[in-house]
Amino acid sequence: MRVVDFLIIGGGVAGLRAAVGLAEVGKVLVVSKDGLEESNTAYAQGGIAVAMGGDEDVALHLSDTISAGDGLVNAKAAAVLVEQGPMRVEELLRWGTGFDRYSAGSEQNGELMRTREGAHSLPRILHANGDATGKEIAVSLLRTVRGLERVELMEWTTAVDLLVCRQGNAERVVGATLLDAAGELHEVRARAVLLASGGAGQVYSDTTNPAVATGDGIAMAYRSGAELMDMEFYQFHPTAFALEGAPRFLMSEALRGEGAWLINSRGERFMERYHPGLELAPRDVVARAIAHEELAGPVYLDMREVGKKMDLKARFPGISGFLADYGLELARDPIPVRPAAHYLMGGVRTDEHGRTSLAGLYAAGEAACTGVHGANRLASNSLLEGLVFGALAAEAMISEQGSIEQGAADSDSSGLVDVADVEEWIAQLQRLMWRDAGLLRDAAGLQRAQAGLQALRQTATGQGAGKSGLTRRALEARNLLTVAEVIVQAALGREESRGAHSRLDFPRRAEVAKHSLLRRGQLRFSGQI
Ligand code: FAD
Ligand code: SIN
Repeated sequence: MRVVDFLIIGGGVAGLRAAVGLAEVGKVLVVSKDGLEESNTAYAQGGIAVAMGGDEDVALHLSDTISAGDGLVNAKAAAVLVEQGPMRVEELLRWGTGFDRYSAGSEQNGELMRTREGAHSLPRILHANGDATGKEIAVSLLRTVRGLERVELMEWTTAVDLLVCRQGNAERVVGATLLDAAGELHEVRARAVLLASGGAGQVYSDTTNPAVATGDGIAMAYRSGAELMDMEFYQFHPTAFALEGAPRFLMSEALRGEGAWLINSRGERFMERYHPGLELAPRDVVARAIAHEELAGPVYLDMREVGKKMDLKARFPGISGFLADYGLELARDPIPVRPAAHYLMGGVRTDEHGRTSLAGLYAAGEAACTGVHGANRLASNSLLEGLVFGALAAEAMISEQGSIEQGAADSDSSGLVDVADVEEWIAQLQRLMWRDAGLLRDAAGLQRAQAGLQALRQTATGQGAGKSGLTRRALEARNLLTVAEVIVQAALGREESRGAHSRLDFPRRAEVAKHSLLRRGQLRFSGQI
């Protein structure tokens, strides 16, 4: 057994920012199941939204966040996000994050560049290397963390389950079991555990998320009895690359921020029929508009006009490089796009300090749900969320008192997936989730999804006669199934359309906004969190 003060599961923006805070008081172990360069953070393109222009600016960022969230935003958490955001971004600047600036001597003389994205009332999004903001933030956070003696980084190490100590009615998370690259299991005990394990885009066949986004932390927490919140709210980014056989590479919303149009198969610009904000309407609105237009043929992102005024290869080098491999150019070609699963608004319920419903367990970033995004996240608020709530979770974890529990503790290792072909089993799950629990939902589809998931659960155990073994992929399969099940359960229970959750059979928004709360199979809705 290994003992550390703090265990952090995940090395994206939330986990790394928390590590910086925790290292001030104790020994921190950060585990990442892949190399540290693999996380949603590292793929973030458009930028980081932050209001650095004083009180009025902050108030506007707050009201944009609340409006985008369609009645369900936890205003207290959103206020924390926008008010503490500037301080956290200043910190990044001190740690050497190279956000893009106007050149010295120009009219704006070295000022930070700011762009606009959907549902923002003004340009407030900082970016780096054009469209590689997440990578720049990840690199500078990693550089900072690597300079801290008390932080140990363990890559290629998968957290399997949380360890829970039960004494009478009291439950406390006291550590986790880890699977290392050599296939060895280890037990780590800690004063407090932080889930910073990111989202779950891999639950869908069409996603912008990298392979690591399998919802592990959420599933682990749920198995241990933690409460999940708003799991039905999956954000579908409107504009993922849509060429058959190609990955759903993100075509950043910043393209539309710089003036890109959306056109349909007849070459018509169509967003005026859906929202006065046109291409910069909230994401859920744009995604549904594209899905509707797609019924008549492919939809394209058109930057040909913008390309006459701006060097698009310089502004969007990553996207331009990707498109070049397909013989496409932003300034010359309409780019085929369609929605893809992008960001989970729901997650492990926490307060603004990352405290979950289980003692000793904290969560921050995309794995957590403070309610800050409500039913629909405002573009580029997620990197900021990781910084702000990662730092706050660290502050709360520091105040954990007492000795580190090294006595008996157990974990729920049920539901291990053992099938002959784990990749095909996962692909089936992803396809059925996309088809029946995706952008547009109804009871019949969701019930089909539920039945399909039940069938997958029945085939999951024992069919492979030990073939899957205790591998990272088999563990991910188990977690994907859990996350898929809770998404479908919550989506069936929410009989309204709100934000990213669109029910064709309940097209209206309920009068009273309620959060869904799910614990040990029991779903309830509450206006209070
Ligand atoms: P992540 O960055 O996903 O990190 C999760 C970490 O947990 C990884 O290190 C992973 O290896 C580890 N992990 C997971 N499971 C386990 C396990 N079982 N054991 C050990 N380690 C584990 N947001 C913005 O604000 N602006 C943008 O411009 C933007 N663009 C985006 C573009 C793309 C293509 C994508 C996919 C997302 C984008 N987002 C953007 C969203 C944003 O990047 C993420 O929501 C955010 O980075 C999540 O940070 P995180 O720290 O919570 O998780
Ligand atoms: C993008 O660049 O469009 C992604 C921004 C985000 O997810 O917030």
